[in-house]
Amino acid sequence: KRVAILISGGGSNMVALAESMVGDHPARPVLVLSNDPQAGGLKKAAAMGIPTAAVDHRPFGKDRAAFEAELLKPLLAAEPDIVCLAGFMRVLTPDFVARFEGRMLNIHPSLLPKYPGLHTHRRAIDAGDAEAGCTVHEVTSVLDSGPILGQARVPVRPGDTAEMLAARVLEQEHKLYPAVLRRYAAGDRTPVYLP
Ligand code: GRF
Repeated sequence: KRVAILISGGGSNMVALAESMVGDHPARPVLVLSNDPQAGGLKKAAAMGIPTAAVDHRPFGKDRAAFEAELLKPLLAAEPDIVCLAGFMRVLTPDFVARFEGRMLNIHPSLLPKYPGLHTHRRAIDAGDAEAGCTVHEVTSVLDSGPILGQARVPVRPGDTAEMLAARVLEQEHKLYPAVLRRYAAGDRTPVYLP
């Protein structure tokens, strides 16, 4: 299976996914694509020998459709079987999502359905939650709400700052996403729950 990974920043999830796709793994990374030409993850992908591309979203302003029309060019050229959003911070239109429905995944840093959207760790701490975590789900046209393919839980500890909790969750993201992708690429949609 051919996997394209979309990133916006450092790409630590992309690195974890790419590093997992070795040996008898049913998938291989064929493209790392970013909405930011300066994304640190692009250099990491190039160093791993993975083809990269970038389409800066800023010149398109609010014209999401025009941005996505450009983004689709390198993405379709890579002929992906699966698209993984990994720290990708642009909301995609239903038209774009529809092109990849049933073969596009995302990782979100909360235990969905709790805390869709941003600032998830701050919200979990402020709510006094004992647990937090991350979710891998299929991408549908409703933000952060497709079928859940995996979740990883971590404790929220007294005195946790959002940064401390984010680091604890990110560590689990790097385990969860590869575990989900390995099953998903083999056609198995049984959810993964960690620990
Ligand atoms: C992190 O906040 C992570 O929780 C979320 O995207 C952000 C950047 O991740 N999934 P990455 O290091 O670019 O993969």
